[in-house]
Amino acid sequence: MKEEKIRVLFVCLGNICRSPTVEAVFKERVEKSGWGKLFEIDSAGTANFHIGKAPDQRTQEHALGRGYNLSNLKARQLESNDFEHFDFVLVMDKQNLSDAQRVRSKASNAKAELKLFLDYLPEQPVREMPDPYYGGPEGFEEVLDLSEQGADSLLRTLLKKQGVLGCGC
Ligand code: 4NP
Repeated sequence: MKEEKIRVLFVCLGNICRSPTVEAVFKERVEKSGWGKLFEIDSAGTANFHIGKAPDQRTQEHALGRGYNLSNLKARQLESNDFEHFDFVLVMDKQNLSDAQRVRSKASNAKAELKLFLDYLPEQPVREMPDPYYGGPEGFEEVLDLSEQGADSLLRTLLKKQGVLGCGC
């Protein structure tokens, strides 16, 4: 097994709803798997609207309902050097993808694989993580459902790729 870290960055528009939810869920799955030391996990937004703010109150409440505490997270904006530092930049929707491609074009030495997060959940008919910001409570629950399914699938894929066997996940 290689000892190098796997660096994963989740990206949405504001970094206060979808990407912090996926960040928290993926961190929990990784810790539970026992491979916490192998990963560096973060999230960011393509926009600058909410820099420095904690996740949206509704996002925090729904996440806490399933045992994920997001209160220590703070929004930040995606930067070109994220594409040099992270191995995977996983975005929530196609608008994020094109915005992130523009940021990546400014990186001198981009190495990150840039994909939709739900590409790691190919059997799921929903291909983009729906933005819950302007909707009702069910949108936040859907984000949690997709985050949990996607995080499980992403972790299995990355551990397999890393040559880690018998992880029990
Ligand atoms: P997120 O959701 O991209 O999942 O964090 C949004 C957060 C804020 C806004 C839109 C979407 N906004 O327009 O401020």
